[in-house]
Amino acid sequence: MTILGIETTCDETAVALVENGTVLKTTILATSLDIHIKYGGIVPDKAAREQLQSILPILTEALKNTNPSKIDAIAVSYGPGLIGSLLIGVETAKSLALAWNKPLIPVNHLIGHIYANWLTSGIEGVNYVQGIPEFPALVLLVSGGHSELILMKGHKQFELLGSTRDDASGECFDKCGRLLSLPYPYGPYVEKLALEHDPQSKEFSIKLPRPMLSSNDLNFSFSGLKTAFLYEFKNQQNLGNVSEQFKAALAYELQEAITDVLVTKTLNAAARFHPKSILLAGGVAANKRLREKMQNSVKDIPLFIPPLKLCTDNAAVIASSAFFNQNVTEIEEVNADPSLTITS
Ligand code: KG4
Ligand code: ZN
Repeated sequence: MTILGIETTCDETAVALVENGTVLKTTILATSLDIHIKYGGIVPDKAAREQLQSILPILTEALKNTNPSKIDAIAVSYGPGLIGSLLIGVETAKSLALAWNKPLIPVNHLIGHIYANWLTSGIEGVNYVQGIPEFPALVLLVSGGHSELILMKGHKQFELLGSTRDDASGECFDKCGRLLSLPYPYGPYVEKLALEHDPQSKEFSIKLPRPMLSSNDLNFSFSGLKTAFLYEFKNQQNLGNVSEQFKAALAYELQEAITDVLVTKTLNAAARFHPKSILLAGGVAANKRLREKMQNSVKDIPLFIPPLKLCTDNAAVIASSAFFNQNVTEIEEVNADPSLTITS
């Protein structure tokens, strides 16, 4: 079964073809990143305008070697996201489903991220996960707006174990990166800057908090960490001494604090729920320090870490999720939902 996936929740316009939920045949992506860099963040109406301009060329490119008769269903990310961006993907998918007389499968973008762990082969140059995750699977879903621990008892069965009480981990990376005057999108630049710091160096003694590390629940909180980061930065600014080395040390400690919390909470959840596999998902899962710490900490349970390319927004995971969840819906009942949650 070949599913055409469409993803337009934010600033990426993406189309992919996936066979049987696991084989990546085509993935094409355009981003309006360049425009947002100038503004230091996403400008929703500009993102929507770019989505509108990109969707047909991206679709045409993705379909250039495929006859629509070979496509069995259309999948689209219908939320959460920016309403203007979402509408472009949703209306395009509905039009295609109507014109080609194909089933339409709406996909929750957050659940889509998790399915990066089911794509196991296809186009060259992608470092796919090996094997298929067994259930129950414990998922750490970390993206720009979400930090969640989810127990996946099967396809379509998602139990939310914990989430953030305030900022998401991606948001924390982003807001702190912005304070350091790094370019948008901040997270990968914080990671890059942190590499400039020598962990053995005693030049700066920065210690940021690890919020809720020893709380009994599986929730997160990152806004206090962001505030502590701000104070460290301001103090150094008042001393008139914000050097590149200081910024690198601060970025390093931020990354350590965020990843310590994410890893510890995941291990706590694993100890409680005894999953048969642990899965990373979402944009922050592209962070190499998080990947490394997870690999070093998870010993007895198979750990799945998606390839970098499939961690951030793309349409392949949407098509894969549609295959495994098979939630075919009448065209007129599919609507963009900006505030969709993992369990709605
Ligand atoms: O999943 P995603 O691509 O979009 C959303 O659905 O939100 O996640 C984007 C988030 C941003 O906060 C971005 O800064 C973060 O993922 N991110 C990273 C890295 N790559 C992306 N954070 C830390 N290190 C990275 N390498
Ligand atoms: Zn996303």
